[in-house]
Amino acid sequence: MRYTTAARRLRPAMPAADLRREMLGAMLAALLLVPAVPAQAGDVATPQIVGGSKAAPGEFPWQVALLDAATANTFNAQFCGGALVTERWVVTAAHCVFDGRVEPPSAVDVLVGTTSLKSGGIRVDVDTIVVHPRYNERTSENDIALLRLAEPVDVETLPVVTLAGEAALTSAGTLATAIGWGDTLVKGDRYPVDLRKVQVPIVTNRVCNGRRSYDGDVTAKMLCAGFAAGGKDSCQGDSGGPLVVPDGDGGFALAGITSWGARCAAPEKYGVYTRVARFAAWMEKVVTAPRRGAAAHVSTASNAAPP
Ligand code: ARG
Repeated sequence: MRYTTAARRLRPAMPAADLRREMLGAMLAALLLVPAVPAQAGDVATPQIVGGSKAAPGEFPWQVALLDAATANTFNAQFCGGALVTERWVVTAAHCVFDGRVEPPSAVDVLVGTTSLKSGGIRVDVDTIVVHPRYNERTSENDIALLRLAEPVDVETLPVVTLAGEAALTSAGTLATAIGWGDTLVKGDRYPVDLRKVQVPIVTNRVCNGRRSYDGDVTAKMLCAGFAAGGKDSCQGDSGGPLVVPDGDGGFALAGITSWGARCAAPEKYGVYTRVARFAAWMEKVVTAPRRGAAAHVSTASNAAPP
């Protein structure tokens, strides 16, 4: 795996955490007798990830799409994003491949080497899925998983921000880029064929835990990015995809994994990402571990009942 320390110079089912937040919001709105879906920033402004623009071919070579293996049509099959951290391993969100249990590897394909869901690229089998052993479906804590490809791919990989690089590379105000084939509309669904990107500043966990934001639900192992005014954000379908920051050397490094948020691009409801630096050691351990026996294709998350 490559690392960055400091400046060297179909859509997925909504994760439980998102759903609960939506329901809470709707209930509160009903109680207050205001419309459940008030007009939001971004509704009209930008037709376009939300508020973003098209990625150029080759701009993010390590970006992949996760596909439902049973669906032949690539566009219909896409349900999450991911990023190649080695020629053999893709990092994504745990909630993309875990729903009470880890998905069997045979259920997931990875689309590599294209920005279009309608042409180009190669569809690669997955032979192992490793969900973080402490992934918590209720709180979205440790929302990270690694997929091993059945064969290595010859594509540029994305360096990972390490603990040592976290402070320098992911400080508040850093302009990060979220990437994916997720919904482009704040209200309603419009899924793009072509990969999209959007720039969002990193905000502190303190701001993100403000009363009008997430009021304490954002843990130290999560990272938030977005504008207080809203309008630009990742959205459903972008999950598992990368949030990248400048690596200080002209390239990008992986800082976050798209995880959750209340609606998309709503004011003060920042996008919440898995804070990758806190998992760099775990990732290293998984991708360098000797292969397990043929029987152990699926690493089962030990998801005991959440505390
Ligand atoms: N959980 C969503 C998914 O499965 C991603 C949510 C991101 N939301 C946000 N407002 N940034 O695709």
